[in-house]
Amino acid sequence: MTKVEVFPNAAALNNEAAEQIARRAQEAVRRNGHCSIVLSGGSTPRALYSLLATEYGEQIPWAACHFFWGDERSVPPDHPESNYRMAMEAILSRVPVPAENIHRVRAEDPDAQRAAEQYADEIRAFFGTVSGQFPSFDIVLLGLGPDGHTASLFPGTAALQEKEKLVVTNWVEKFGAFRITMSAPLLNHAACVLFLVQGAEKAEAVCSVLHGAYQPEKHPAQLIRPANGQLLWMVDEAAGKLCRVGGDLVRNCRSLLR
Ligand code: 6PG
Repeated sequence: MTKVEVFPNAAALNNEAAEQIARRAQEAVRRNGHCSIVLSGGSTPRALYSLLATEYGEQIPWAACHFFWGDERSVPPDHPESNYRMAMEAILSRVPVPAENIHRVRAEDPDAQRAAEQYADEIRAFFGTVSGQFPSFDIVLLGLGPDGHTASLFPGTAALQEKEKLVVTNWVEKFGAFRITMSAPLLNHAACVLFLVQGAEKAEAVCSVLHGAYQPEKHPAQLIRPANGQLLWMVDEAAGKLCRVGGDLVRNCRSLLR
């Protein structure tokens, strides 16, 4: 089930996202004794992470939450571009999550393939699954690039074709670098995927992904359609301005919300 919610501004979006995460984390811990959360990188989620750290100390069972990353740049954990570093600064160093519950990608490994395989092993060990099985994360947070990428699934890259592995390396020509990313099949096994998208520079991508023709090679975020999970797009007015859903102002778009 796909839902799109448009929020008047980033603060309103982050407040609702925090409520969604807190509620789903509580439910998962009640049900399974733990909650597995996949964090997204980039800049958008930083404010949400900080909000969770400062306002949700009581509402989230931190000690039972396990954190993973949907993708990572091929840099050391203390590098300014590290998604791990951003999350540690914005939230994980500020809440009582046990160190063993933080499952980072060993992206400092010069052998990106080995790092990807090690990360897949760590995910399987956590879920107790074997090769060929896709575990189900409780909550996956994803962002959207202006080019329609999500995680490190970039347009025209090899990772878009991955059907079997949990985690792959992905050469991204425009960066001249490898990224390490969860595959679309793994992300699609999640119980809940939240896309958090803010800013006018994302408006074209939001419209193409949600309402354009299904062309995942060009708009990789279209690959993300959880088979049995919930998909919630949370966009601010600026990012949703070209195709505010709900039946009104939709220009040159066809609905993906079938
Ligand atoms: C990354 C992210 C990536 C990000 C989008 C949006 O490693 O950069 O995982 O998928 O979510 O590029 O980034 P911004 O939030 O910075 O716009």
